[in-house]
Amino acid sequence: MKKQIALVKGDGIGPEVVNEGVNILKTIAEYTDYEFDFTEAPMGGEIWKKCGESLPQTSLEMMKQSDAILFGAVGLPDIPQGVAEKAILKVRQDLDLYVNLRPVKLYPSLHDMCPLKPEIVEDGINISIFRENTESVYAQIGGIVNQETAVNSMVYTRKGVSRIIEYAYEFVSKNRLDELISVDKANVLIVSQFWRQIFQSIGKNYPKIKQTNYYVDAFCQWLIRKPSSIHTVVTENMFGDIVSDEAAYLVGSLGMGASGNINPTGVSMYEPIHGSAPDITGQGIANPIGTILSLKLMFEESFRDTHVGVAIDKAVESALESMRTTDIYSKYAQNKVNIQRGNCREMGSSVAEQLKSILKN
Ligand code: NAI
Ligand code: MG
Repeated sequence: MKKQIALVKGDGIGPEVVNEGVNILKTIAEYTDYEFDFTEAPMGGEIWKKCGESLPQTSLEMMKQSDAILFGAVGLPDIPQGVAEKAILKVRQDLDLYVNLRPVKLYPSLHDMCPLKPEIVEDGINISIFRENTESVYAQIGGIVNQETAVNSMVYTRKGVSRIIEYAYEFVSKNRLDELISVDKANVLIVSQFWRQIFQSIGKNYPKIKQTNYYVDAFCQWLIRKPSSIHTVVTENMFGDIVSDEAAYLVGSLGMGASGNINPTGVSMYEPIHGSAPDITGQGIANPIGTILSLKLMFEESFRDTHVGVAIDKAVESALESMRTTDIYSKYAQNKVNIQRGNCREMGSSVAEQLKSILKN
């Protein structure tokens, strides 16, 4: 199977983590029927400095013509606010990437990195958050009314709300899970009451799935109080932005987080959740696992291949037993003789080695 992959390396640590992702794809090509063709689509601050555009038209075309996009990170400390973000929002809008999927998983070998008490997480953490990715306050409707007042409108459409909720119900159903949690603020917001109505009405098509509603404020405390009991969550754009960062930290480091920006009938983009990390750029110590786990989502969501997806997950789990990057190298790891500290390259290669032995069998 031939797949065209557009690589958006971007700024800061983006190139080094994407390179490890490419290495993983090459390993997969070696041991399966996949063949990958790579094209590089410049985007972000570095390209803006060179040509005055953070998303050149040629890059957007390359992305549109690919089978999937692997994205690193964009943003630099010495460019104006909003330049890099504008490029990301444009890609989401143009490719209609309306599903933002963020899985949050605590690997058994990283239990010491979880900031919660061991008894709270003894049953593990395994959450999939589905965030609506095109509407709400991010639709950029509003403005400065006068010197004293600014407004952003929270816009929900029936189409926008229905399609993300349907995607989440389908995910629960496909994975034989039994509950979908919807997060809103229906005690105060009219848009949330509209959301809740649609959530309940679509739920009638899935009678075996338990529907649970949480207000976003209460959900934030449940997330740290009983994370093991939460599995699939669907929510609107801004609430999703906030709760997914809170959830991501429960597994130890931003460097571990993966995400998919998905158009179920088009081209989707996969990226680690972290940014360009200017504080560690050039040191070669970035954690590449968020990027590698984004590839797991690429196989599962874009190529409908859970076999390779599961293999990537297992490879990461095994690699973490004997190596960690600086961001997850705790006191506990220091005291374990069998856990080495690795840089970005070494961590990526260690996952690739594990993946080889899994795919061979
Ligand atoms: P950040 O995610 O770049 O960094 C936050 C902290 O986490 C830093 O201390 C960094 O060293 C650490 N970190 C992040 N990724 C890591 C990794 N893979 N391995 C080890 N440590 C890691 O967020 P920050 O500092 O708020 O933003 C930096 C720039 O990135 C800004 O220009 C921001 O706009 C941009 N950004 C871009 C995103 C994207 O491209 N999707 C997402 C978030 C921020
Ligand atoms: Mg965020």
